[in-house]
Amino acid sequence: EKGSFRHFMEKEVHEQPESCQRTLSAYLDPVACAVRDDIKAGIDFSQIVRIQIIACGTAFYAGSIARYAFEKLAGLPVDVEVASEFRYRTPAITPGTLAVAVSQSGETADTLAALRWCKEQGMHTAAVVNVHSSTMAREADLMWPTHAGPEIGVASTKAFTAQLSALLSLVVCAARQRSRITAHEEAHLVQVLLGAPGLIAEAMAMDAEITRVTYDLSKARDVIYLGRGDMYPLALEGALKLKEISYIHAEGYAAGELKHGPIALIDENTPVVVIAPDDALFEKTASNVQEVAARGGRVIMITNVPEKVPALSGDAGKSLKVITAPSCDAFIAPLVYSVPIQLLAYHTAVHKGTDVDQPRNLAKSVTVE
Ligand code: F6R
Repeated sequence: EKGSFRHFMEKEVHEQPESCQRTLSAYLDPVACAVRDDIKAGIDFSQIVRIQIIACGTAFYAGSIARYAFEKLAGLPVDVEVASEFRYRTPAITPGTLAVAVSQSGETADTLAALRWCKEQGMHTAAVVNVHSSTMAREADLMWPTHAGPEIGVASTKAFTAQLSALLSLVVCAARQRSRITAHEEAHLVQVLLGAPGLIAEAMAMDAEITRVTYDLSKARDVIYLGRGDMYPLALEGALKLKEISYIHAEGYAAGELKHGPIALIDENTPVVVIAPDDALFEKTASNVQEVAARGGRVIMITNVPEKVPALSGDAGKSLKVITAPSCDAFIAPLVYSVPIQLLAYHTAVHKGTDVDQPRNLAKSVTVE
């Protein structure tokens, strides 16, 4: 039941402190401040040469975010590919590759076919799934559960952050098993992850600021999302969420790609959503904001450091709206910044009056190609 919420999507967005908490608890031991022994016993990442993540849609973006963390913290090469391409292109496989399917339903036809192909090639396989009795859960060598609970809204929200919670926990496991971090550093990262549900709850307070920009956004025909580093796949996810439920055309780009083409689209009618936490790349993203503003573009900037946003003079300053996010460790920023991008899509769709929980043409589970 929806309770006091207008839509299942809104309810599921607000459930994320609990759904992430439940998922993190399945991987992390809060007393030992370490990855749980049963998770460590199930896999030895020191024996793995490469990870191949296969998924569709939102799950693909969760995998794309995890890639940054696996490579940075565990020194483990990761490829991420949409299952519909992977399964038909005869990929070359590195021996020692672990194939990881990421899927809320565990039934998506392309992801399942790709997982089966990997098994046939003799690869070790794992499935990050929310439905624990699903076909992927049964067929993969290893089942890594998410605990989002049933997701009713067609647009994935809490399943996505549960996937991130599981995958980032596995990154800590991999980093430790590959001796990239000490037990002390493991404890620190586990603490950071266990702090995420509280910060996700704090991020819900952004709702008020977000509703101040979504009426304007609902009038747009096209919207551009920009991010750098692991905020790049989050920008893609933000664009997908907006497209799915509001039917507004949206594209996500790596902020550094702006100059290589998409900047030609910038005008006063094309709002640009910039996801820019205060990390090593902040200054670079901020300079992209200036480039957009200088061309008359309207910018919605989501950041925890509004004071660092370049002061823009005159009309350019008026077209910049800053939405303030809670500060957090860069490791969990994808979890915290998921909230504003979901709320942005949600409130925009509500203004447009579209069917948020049952968007046209979409099915919750895509079991045919
Ligand atoms: C987006 C969305 C879809 C699914 C995709 C994969 O909001 O819900 O893009 O993420 O169809 O579904 P699963 O995760 O069930 O394999």
